[in-house]
Amino acid sequence: MKKVILSILVLLFTNSVFSQKFEGLGLTPQMGWNSWNTFATDINEQLVKDMADAFVNLGLKDAGYEYILLDDGWMAMERDAQGNLVPHPEKFPNGIKAVADYVHSKGLKFGLYNCAGSKTCAGYPGSRGHEYQDALKYAEWGVDYLKYDWCSTGKLNAEEAYITMRDALYAAGRPIFFSLCEWGANKPWDWAAPVGHSWRTTGDIYNCFDCEKDHGDFTSWGAMQILNMHDQDTLRKAAGPGHWNDMDMLEVGNGGFTHYEEETHFALWAMLNSPLLLGNDLRSMSQETLEILKNKDIIALNQDALGIQGFKYKTIGSVEVWVKPLERDEWAICFFNHSQAPVDFSFDWSEHIIKDEIFNKEIAFSTSNIYKLKNLYTHKESGSTNTTLTHKLEKNQSLVLRLFR
Ligand code: GLA
Repeated sequence: MKKVILSILVLLFTNSVFSQKFEGLGLTPQMGWNSWNTFATDINEQLVKDMADAFVNLGLKDAGYEYILLDDGWMAMERDAQGNLVPHPEKFPNGIKAVADYVHSKGLKFGLYNCAGSKTCAGYPGSRGHEYQDALKYAEWGVDYLKYDWCSTGKLNAEEAYITMRDALYAAGRPIFFSLCEWGANKPWDWAAPVGHSWRTTGDIYNCFDCEKDHGDFTSWGAMQILNMHDQDTLRKAAGPGHWNDMDMLEVGNGGFTHYEEETHFALWAMLNSPLLLGNDLRSMSQETLEILKNKDIIALNQDALGIQGFKYKTIGSVEVWVKPLERDEWAICFFNHSQAPVDFSFDWSEHIIKDEIFNKEIAFSTSNIYKLKNLYTHKESGSTNTTLTHKLEKNQSLVLRLFR
């Protein structure tokens, strides 16, 4: 009898020890750079080094960007005779550990991509059946982050497949941020919080503000299509420190957006606590783009320790009003003119009580409850909630304010 109880206890212990994700990672949404949007599978050692150097030289590291992530295409087409993943011999002649070491030498973190299916989306070897073996390799190479995709998965159950990889990473022992990428197909917001640190909510982003791109066997989506694809209340309920909704990588700096649209895309991704993963070529971006990406006031909304995802409070005419509760009873508010024409709008604070029913926050404005306003694009204090706000917004332009006392 004693033996049976002992075995049950051992089983329970080992299960609870090995069936978990690494806690303490992603307490705020991850920030970094990912190769896919600009380079697809055309990646190599020098590119990683250039991006790591750019992080430091352009002040992106100081602004909070941390991860350099290689997406699909880093492997050879076949595993070796022992079934190990092999880095692509021409793209990474010195192996993956060498690039990870370089990234670490700059005080940054390094990540890789693979897929739960038998092949990655670009046709390289997937992890199915090799999860524990691959996790050991990642740990050995010094990988800090794994993006895990969902192509060639046949009849696999998504939750189980992601749990298997989670457990494999945990068993390998090196804390690795686990980024789920099954495009929202199996409602990961319902089950992924104990499994990974973020989960994609939609298919791939496309380099446009408001359009769809039909590729034949799949569609990719403009920033607005991604923003409006799901009921954001359902999604935001599931998110918080260590487990975020991922609206895909940024397209800022890739030429498909106007300046105002880039600002709005960045601000909304920040307000909704989406990961801030740059998707452009950092070596050749304009000063204007760099300023958007390094806007510390906007980044601070995304990185606010409270970790409450913003939500749409109201649409007034063509102006969408997005809000986000912040630490210390402060709030962010984003007025976004979602139209083809400029608009002059006004907002009389005293007429509004903004309630976040899900996270139980409320803000009301009266003469005895006045907030000061900071314009997060000019970085200047700009009046208070004591007077009606009037502002002109061009097509797809936004105004983002921080409300503080
Ligand atoms: C899928 C993912 C993308 C990217 C590609 C790589 O489409 O959603 O983000 O990783 O695969 O092949």
